[in-house]
Amino acid sequence: MSDHTEQELIMKIKESDAYIPALSLVAVDHTKIVGHIMMSKIQVMDGQAHHHALALAPLSVLPAYQHQGIGSQLIRQAVDMAGRADYSSIIVLGHHTYYPKFGFRKASDYGIYPPFDVPEEYFMVLPLDENRLANMKGTVKYSSAFE
Ligand SMILES: CC(C)(COP(=O)(O)OP(=O)(O)OC[C@H]1O[C@@H](n2cnc3c(N)ncnc32)[C@H](O)[C@@H]1OP(=O)(O)O)[C@@H](O)C(=O)NCCC(=O)NCCS
Repeated sequence: MSDHTEQELIMKIKESDAYIPALSLVAVDHTKIVGHIMMSKIQVMDGQAHHHALALAPLSVLPAYQHQGIGSQLIRQAVDMAGRADYSSIIVLGHHTYYPKFGFRKASDYGIYPPFDVPEEYFMVLPLDENRLANMKGTVKYSSAFE
């Protein structure tokens, strides 16, 4: 699903403090970019406390290259790199039949909620560090790029 404004979101993230260049990846076929994934910084707000986490967005693969595993490869690579960079968790708003196969679970099961109304199965979290995630409850605050 696309609202055709994802390219603007990418530019806004790149201009913000939430941007993590190492977690913005492209899939390349020879010299052509055929897919892209981005993870950027967000916070989980719990009263006065705030915890650092990542948002997975956007993710895209050129239509002619879809259903070949490129999206899965981008997710697995970015998740692996985020884990090695010592992030605690990754939040995604996305399809509930796509992301669970990469380890994403309903965020509400962890006491983490979106800042907007959405059916709970679409708002998911991937634990990278279960211990830190256990102490992380609250409402997600997206960076200004998402406003
Ligand atoms: C979602 C997307 C990145 C998947 O890329 P991909 O390279 O085709 O993914 P993979 O080949 O690794 O996996 C494909 C499988 O994912 C599932 N899938 C793909 N898009 C899906 C969607 N929007 N909702 C649910 N499942 C989806 C399909 O079951 C597909 O399985 P199949 O090949 O057996 O039919 C791609 O479809 C895309 O760019 N979509 C438009 C942008 C978008 O919706 N991004 C996600 C925002 S949360």
